[in-house]
Amino acid sequence: MSEIREQVRQRYALAAIQVSGDAGCCGGSCGATSAADTFGAALYDASDLVDVPLEAQLVSLGCGNPLAVADLREGERVLDLGSGGGIDVLLSAKRVGPTGFAHGVDMTDEMLDLARANAAKAGATNVAFHRGTIEDLPLGDASVDVVISNCVVNLSTDKPAVLAEVFRVLVPGGRVGISDVVAEDHLTPDERAERGSYVGCIAGALSRQEYLDGLASAGFVDTDVVFTHPVADGMHAAVVRARKPEA
Ligand SMILES: C[S@@+](CC[C@H](N)C(=O)[O-])C[C@H]1O[C@@H](n2cnc3c(N)ncnc32)[C@H](O)[C@@H]1O
Repeated sequence: MSEIREQVRQRYALAAIQVSGDAGCCGGSCGATSAADTFGAALYDASDLVDVPLEAQLVSLGCGNPLAVADLREGERVLDLGSGGGIDVLLSAKRVGPTGFAHGVDMTDEMLDLARANAAKAGATNVAFHRGTIEDLPLGDASVDVVISNCVVNLSTDKPAVLAEVFRVLVPGGRVGISDVVAEDHLTPDERAERGSYVGCIAGALSRQEYLDGLASAGFVDTDVVFTHPVADGMHAAVVRARKPEA
């Protein structure tokens, strides 16, 4: 495991144990900003969170609401990359209903334990949390309709591998609805690193054009990266949309 990936794993293991976004990291003490309305559960509609266990809300470390981006429908199969305490998997499961299914993948055992406990508390039966990395997804080819993610792709040290894996697991015509931190195109990697740490979801962020190029290289069409709110100077939370072409 790379040194950066191990640092990421340790930080999020701590966040899971403490059930607190403050332990680390997107928007926590190791990020560029700790504004509660920039990262975490404040980015969701309160009405959506009614059935979500408090522990899943408290450890919510995302930078958006990928469900609002993905427009999920009844019966769809959804995969959440870096599912953390499970908030987006539980919300997806509710949206897709009993005929649909929501998978989460995370590399941190402590997060998986927390997510499974939260699913049990919520009484969710159409969910599964898998141990694995987003660079080598433990799901079959063409096995999901939608891939979502909330502030995780920036943490990967191999983003082309992540995008290739997302393409592989999606059905033809399947779609991507991701929230992530994205830099303005003029910021160099060094300038991004000056604004915040890798584990804090800042230093590893792609620029908007890098994201669009990466999606196109993986084979996606109808790509779009739209900034939603600032998280650091020249850096933004963003929604990322794309579609795998029909066969
Ligand atoms: C910023 S948190 C986001 C968690 C969740 N998406 C949310 O919105 O609360 C990042 C999560 O991604 C996981 N993660 C980071 N890099 C990963 C990788 N390369 N493969 C799998 N999981 C990863 C961490 O363990 C952590 O649970």
